[in-house]
Amino acid sequence: MDSFKKIPGQEENDVSTDSEDILHVNGGKPLNGAIKVRGAKNFVSKAMVAALLAPGTSVLKNVPEIRDVHVVSDLLRLHGVNVNVDGEKGVVTIDATHVKLASVADVDTLSGSSRIPILFSGPLLHRLGEAFIPALGGCAIGGRPIDFHLDTLRKLGATVDKEHKDGIHITAPNGLTGAKIHLPYPSVGATEQTLLAAVLAEGKTELSGAAIEPEIMDLVAVLQKMGAIISVDVDRTFRIEGVKELKGFTHTSLTDRIEAASWASAALATRGDIFVKGATQPEMMTFLNVFRKVGGEFDVTDKGIRFWHPGGDLKPVAIETDVHPGFMTDWQQPLVVALTQANGLSIVHETVYENRFGFTKPLVQMGATIQLYRECLGSLPCRFQQRNYKHSAVIFGPTPLTGRDIDVPDLRGGFSHLIAALAAKGPSNVHGISLIDRGYADFRGKLRQLGADID
Ligand code: EPU
Repeated sequence: MDSFKKIPGQEENDVSTDSEDILHVNGGKPLNGAIKVRGAKNFVSKAMVAALLAPGTSVLKNVPEIRDVHVVSDLLRLHGVNVNVDGEKGVVTIDATHVKLASVADVDTLSGSSRIPILFSGPLLHRLGEAFIPALGGCAIGGRPIDFHLDTLRKLGATVDKEHKDGIHITAPNGLTGAKIHLPYPSVGATEQTLLAAVLAEGKTELSGAAIEPEIMDLVAVLQKMGAIISVDVDRTFRIEGVKELKGFTHTSLTDRIEAASWASAALATRGDIFVKGATQPEMMTFLNVFRKVGGEFDVTDKGIRFWHPGGDLKPVAIETDVHPGFMTDWQQPLVVALTQANGLSIVHETVYENRFGFTKPLVQMGATIQLYRECLGSLPCRFQQRNYKHSAVIFGPTPLTGRDIDVPDLRGGFSHLIAALAAKGPSNVHGISLIDRGYADFRGKLRQLGADID
């Protein structure tokens, strides 16, 4: 049973011409009020995959009503797993006692729907000795290769067959064995891949150069509840001692700090005042520092964080995106919209993805002054130095924004366009709006709660 509201199943990067997929926005009104943010999209989907590691029942709470949850539920069900989702309560119950190989044709129907399926590899190899992973989706914000994932699986003893035209066939008939692995870059997904594959591998695994995002540490907490033995050194090295079996878990997800920061940026850009129920301070410290430097005010309470524009001019900032505990790449797009209203020159150096400024073009068409550069406009070591990627942005403000027709390019870029439309004078039509359902639960309802004039 799936009691989540059905969300339009639009393909990842299509520009929709469907009239139901357009949001009409009459901008220029501050967003004021309170909204609730549930669990993190980039944790919940992974915890659901972890449930596949153990026979028995796992219960995940504080689950948001987003499309990625449907995709993972569907993929689990294709593998014989019983999944029950209670959308209203935000509870997902997964019984992975029985697991079977899904038919390639069935798995193919989920091709291009998300990046999560690659994380099924380890659990399926442990349970069945083989896995078929469909072609991956996710936002078009760079090449998004999976070489680290596949290298890790090979090091643990799997055989990867990339010949299949629609996906990847991976086998490990004799199980996986612990290994020494180093990631060339602290990839979130490859770290999770290693954790999910190594917990049941025979012997010890050392993973150096890993990512330590709060969502990853919450996944470690889930795996520990299941019976895994995982420690982390100060230099971001995970040590995993393989165990023979795991059991189900009950866990409440940490809050979605990307969604919380998106609403905070919306408060700044529209000169509004938003109380984000559920937002927590420790995971957002880096964002909060920048929010304060820009001139935003916030108040942390036990129930959430209130973010508001105090009036007067916002201040420009220079930021560089980075892995945790740096400034998240997913925070930059909504903040850039607010920076178009800051008085002076702001600089954003994107060091995680090579192609994450595509969303600025419509902002410029709305009146923003944003120039993109191939040079690294910052001091962090950056893989894109001397490469041909426009990965630095200079934003000059304040510039009034004017409403217009916009096509949603990707999840975070799309939400930023929505913020721009809400901050802009006059009407905007935001096309392909259902793409935002991948990561922002009930954003239409929340916008109405905040007094937005949308239709
Ligand atoms: N990379 C490789 N090879 C790999 C894996 C990654 O070169 O095998 C590179 C990527 O191309 C990228 C960098 O490493 O340049 C970082 O990628 P990472 O693997 O960390 O990203 P991810 O796991 O695919 C997750 C989130 C993203 C978030 C990033 C960084 C999920 C489902 N996605 O992606 O979230 O931006 O970590 O924090 O957890 C979003 O929510 O909108 C989103 C894109």
